[in-house]
Amino acid sequence: MYDLVIKGGTVVTAVSTFPADIGINGETIAAIGQNLDGKQQLDATNKLVTPGAVDMHVHLQMPIGSFTSTDGFYSGTRAAAFGGTTTIVDFVETQPNETMVEAIAARRALADPNVVIDYGLHMTITPSDIAKLEQIPEAFAAGCTSFKLYMAYGHRLQDDKLLRALTAVRNASGIPVVHAENWDVITELIQQNLAAGHTNPHWHPRSRPALLEAEATGRVIDIASFVGVPLHIFHVSCGEAVARIAQARRQGLPVTGETCPQYLFLTWDVYDAPGVDGTLPVCSPPIRDRAAQTALWQALSRNELQIVTTDHCPFTYEEKATGLDNYSQIPGGVPSIEMRFAALYSQGMRQGWLSLPQWVAQCCTNPAKLMGLAKKGEITVGYDADLVIFDPAASRTLSPDSLHEAADWTPYDGLELQGWPQTTICRGKIVVQDGEFVGGKGNGRFVHRTQANL
Ligand code: URP
Ligand code: ZN
Ligand code: ZN
Repeated sequence: MYDLVIKGGTVVTAVSTFPADIGINGETIAAIGQNLDGKQQLDATNKLVTPGAVDMHVHLQMPIGSFTSTDGFYSGTRAAAFGGTTTIVDFVETQPNETMVEAIAARRALADPNVVIDYGLHMTITPSDIAKLEQIPEAFAAGCTSFKLYMAYGHRLQDDKLLRALTAVRNASGIPVVHAENWDVITELIQQNLAAGHTNPHWHPRSRPALLEAEATGRVIDIASFVGVPLHIFHVSCGEAVARIAQARRQGLPVTGETCPQYLFLTWDVYDAPGVDGTLPVCSPPIRDRAAQTALWQALSRNELQIVTTDHCPFTYEEKATGLDNYSQIPGGVPSIEMRFAALYSQGMRQGWLSLPQWVAQCCTNPAKLMGLAKKGEITVGYDADLVIFDPAASRTLSPDSLHEAADWTPYDGLELQGWPQTTICRGKIVVQDGEFVGGKGNGRFVHRTQANL
């Protein structure tokens, strides 16, 4: 007799689909089989049973300039749980006089009492952290095994510092995760546009060309290949960047790439919406044209990209509005922490882009492996009982009211999805059941991650 049994569902893993019951004891998957009995039982007839989804790129309560992203660790993880996500990976940055280990402790002090699902942290390395590179092994030992390097924004690493950071991450057996854009070209194009009176968000994607995202992607792949370190490319927005990743992988290089719902569901005409509405979808890299969108679905279909994350980083309507007269000042980022898993199912199945195992691989298993989440992302005996009972027959129209994110808007307002998580379970505890939150603040845990394994 197991503590909890999920009965009669169709189990979907990254490699196959089969009917089975799942037995859970405490926090762990104890059995996968037929006719299992539990003290508590959940009926999954006509439902899919998947691993809990893993979102390895979110920015909760993230300070950017004078703003802080809208979802905190409670509202953000709660919204994630409604969408079937049971683990996120967020970010930590050091203050000038703070060590990496101190910064991890400070970020954990913010997150630990608030998270309702499990989480990890990427350590951010800005130019001022180059003096702290010898601390990387301590950050790794503290469970922070991935390192965020920006090639864009004011705190980007130029190639010399990129080389030093990649080398230090390699020496500690870590994995670098990179925002790849060509910042020098972007700043020049922004200046030219503003000087010409091109101040509205229409010009945002036109200041950040796809070809230059690909250039930066290829450049960091080449530097990482020279150094001999695996590499993950964040938020790929175009076919040109996919091509660089695919080429590297064909050569046998350990390079992976992700894309996000904003690039898969929106096109750049969103920036032409009147007034503040056009500022809302500003994010970087920018949302591009229909051809770029199709190229990304193709890349997922062909496994040329391996992971879908959200890059969830919303700001309020008022905060976005501050850049109305100068698109380069709009705080960048969009929300999608809740819709990702269902949206990928809905569109992936409707359009035939994905098989069920590919959906699970890209949203659950691959990110768990890449992030060294040793007991997550799979339905395997001995793994954490992070599970979703997913109703393929449920339909959902997205709106700010139907979602649980803190932002007062969503770029997916009116998007109709087929399929939605009915029950979300994190380490054996039900967090969301039939649309009700039944979890608890602080029930989530910081996960000490290990070396990447994808
Ligand atoms: O515009 C974006 N994507 N904001 C979040 C920070 C980042 O670059 O990932
Ligand atoms: Zn980024
Ligand atoms: Zn990001």
